[in-house]
Amino acid sequence: MSVCEFRPGLEGIPAAQSSISFVDGQKGLLEYRGIRIEELASKSTFLETAYLLIWGQLPDFEELKAFEHEVRYHRRIKYRIRDMMKSFPESGHPMDALQASAAALGLFYSRRDLHNPVYIRDAVVRLVATIPTMVAAFQLMRKGNDPIRPNDGLDYSANFLYMLSEEEPDPLASRIFDVCLILHAEHTMNASTFSARVTASTLTDPYAVVASAVGTLGGPLHGGANEEVIQMLEEIGCVENVRPYIEGCLERKAKIMGFGHRVYKVKDPRATILQDLAEQLFAKFGHDKYYDIALEMEKVVEEKLANKGIYPNVDFYSGLVYGKMGIPTDLFTPIFAIARVAGWLAHWKEQLAENRIFRPTQVYNGLHEAAYIPIEQR
Ligand code: SDX
Repeated sequence: MSVCEFRPGLEGIPAAQSSISFVDGQKGLLEYRGIRIEELASKSTFLETAYLLIWGQLPDFEELKAFEHEVRYHRRIKYRIRDMMKSFPESGHPMDALQASAAALGLFYSRRDLHNPVYIRDAVVRLVATIPTMVAAFQLMRKGNDPIRPNDGLDYSANFLYMLSEEEPDPLASRIFDVCLILHAEHTMNASTFSARVTASTLTDPYAVVASAVGTLGGPLHGGANEEVIQMLEEIGCVENVRPYIEGCLERKAKIMGFGHRVYKVKDPRATILQDLAEQLFAKFGHDKYYDIALEMEKVVEEKLANKGIYPNVDFYSGLVYGKMGIPTDLFTPIFAIARVAGWLAHWKEQLAENRIFRPTQVYNGLHEAAYIPIEQR
């Protein structure tokens, strides 16, 4: 094989063969296992979509009921994990708490039996079931409260919202939240998924795979952008300030959060759906002035940056949806992780099916034959 040129960010270089999802960045098309995201968002549930991603096909009635049942009854976390989380600093970011807690699962379930389908199934169920419980538990404990036990009478998304507030959520809010999870569940070879696959390729346990992916998702260039979008909208403050704010960013060559994408050169189809979900929430629960600012931003950014293919991405409107549900801003990225665990686990299984350890090369541009200078002469 010939030596390739170095491509910063590995742009355009395939890191795997995958049948999990597909993006056409020119057409603004996203499919999970061949099914359009719009169809899944309007007809599926998060758990059904997770099943589709992880096991490769839509479940039949019995398969779906069995998966939902297993997830429902594995939501509780061990009291030792709760105790460990209680000792986390309350000022710590919930993504760091989640990364540490996900990694800690590996201490309790360390048997690494990667050829055993029962082990794989258990790990999938445990991670899908407990990640939301850990996110909610940290939220409560950092405020000095005991965590709220999962409510077996509620489905996946309603239960998560319940664990944040101890109130049964409004059905529309709960359905919209579930659709948000569908939209965030998977997205080809993004940074956190790449991270998950690299970790998986060493044949380590799935808790280490998910913990490494959570760490990668948190950065502001990736999943962490949803939190930064809200901070940006608050800083802008009113519609009149949008244009000068964007012009200022462009002058300083600063990135405008929630815009741009390595693959999409048109508006991210998930942003279009999220915008519609936000409007449904505003119609029921009241308007949000930050939505007006967001609309103006989309208009001005299009005017200035459409020639570079810079449009809203998935992180632009999601925060407005979660904010209207009363969810604290620093939980937005952990919520992204709750959803993306489905994609990470699908990639974990796919990587194991035809594994070869990731070991790329580099273009060395350092010294050779350099002299060792004794410390007193430096
Ligand atoms: C996610 O990969 C995935 O699939 C990720 C994701 C998923 O579901 O997993 O979709 C989720 O991570 C969404 C992205 C969230 N991040 C942000 O919103 C942060 C702001 N966006 C950017 O920093 C940026 O657009 C990235 C990180 C998303 C993509 O980076 P690239 O592909 O490396 O692009 P780049 O930074 O090299 O930019 C290319 C050009 C530059 O201009 P030129 O130097 O060529 O003149 O586009 C400009 C950039 O300056 N540009 C922007 C911009 N994004 C790109 N200019 C202003 N604001 C922006 N947001």
